[in-house]
Amino acid sequence: MTAKLCNAGILGTGFYVPEKIMTNADLEKIVETSDEWIVERTGIKERRIAEDNQPMSDLALRAAKAALVDAGVAAEDLDLIIVATLTSDRIIPSTACMIQNLLGAKHAAAFDLSAACSGFAYAASVAAQFIETGAYKKALVIGAETLSKYINWEDRNTCVLFGDGAGAAVLGQVEEGYGILSFDLGSDGSGGDAIQIPSSGSLMPVSKESIDQKLNLIHMNGRDVFKFAVKAMGKTVKNSLAKIDMPQEKIDWLVPHQANIRIIESAAKRLSMPMDKVIVNIHKYGNMSAACIPIALAEAAAAKRFKKGDIIALSGFGAGLTWASCIIRWSKED
Ligand code: ACO
Repeated sequence: MTAKLCNAGILGTGFYVPEKIMTNADLEKIVETSDEWIVERTGIKERRIAEDNQPMSDLALRAAKAALVDAGVAAEDLDLIIVATLTSDRIIPSTACMIQNLLGAKHAAAFDLSAACSGFAYAASVAAQFIETGAYKKALVIGAETLSKYINWEDRNTCVLFGDGAGAAVLGQVEEGYGILSFDLGSDGSGGDAIQIPSSGSLMPVSKESIDQKLNLIHMNGRDVFKFAVKAMGKTVKNSLAKIDMPQEKIDWLVPHQANIRIIESAAKRLSMPMDKVIVNIHKYGNMSAACIPIALAEAAAAKRFKKGDIIALSGFGAGLTWASCIIRWSKED
């Protein structure tokens, strides 16, 4: 890794999920599926759905406020806000700028980051660079999605998988030897068609025709993504560990992206980790893309599952294709 002037770590976390719960039984009424199929093939029992008039920024703001309280950091002290998302409120302005305004973070630079489900680990790694060089002191990193607004509710292959939510972390300087010890970011754009919203930008602007053909909604080749994911999740953690010569037995907790329980179990197996050391909440929330990892992290932290000094591996993969991991030595006291 490159030289650091100081160590960047997580000072506080927070999350928010919408109140509305959609169960597998609810989905049985919409498409030809069953609770048994969904639970067995994905591990998902229910997911949260934002209200029609509830934008992604509302979820992100609530998670951000909770993280700031947990960190004991004032919005005015933030130097940077990054929102990792694929469901921004609008193409412009960025949701990060909206959050900057809503929080009153008047000294913060702000931008959105697009790396789909790998987004939070990407964004945390980016924010850490600013802190480690001394350029910035405090950064707010948010992973937030309202995927329900891009679901084709007639496609059983995808509509059972996704949900809405937001998680956030405040990053700042932590003591020597703690915080984000290493990271691994990667991409393979040749697999870009595997998960896409075909009509969502300048390549195919949204039109009446594209909406009629549901090209403005999520399209996914589940099997291809599955094959990619089972390899990528373990490999990226191994890459991060190799950068700091840390054996995989040192990992106390795996916080994986929550796309499918079978993918999570396979990653845990590849890292020789028992499932009781893996943070899992997919049964409650489904796949919330960039929000999965920070929500899992925040829930586990709130439940006091992490002790100061624990080694935590974040591991994500997603559209792009992208993958990302971070190795963190937890710096917060219980
Ligand atoms: N209910 C009942 N049957 C279903 C459903 C459903 N909801 N969905 C698919 N099936 C059927 C299929 O039609 C297929 O039937 P067929 O054999 O007659 O064609 C059968 O079940 C098996 O389909 P598979 O695609 O082989 O099922 P698989 O076991 O692979 O599970 C799944 C599908 C859950 C999508 C899995 O492939 C997966 O999790 N892939 C990864 C998805 C992912 O990780 N996405 C993350 C990125 S998302 C992002 O970045 C935003």
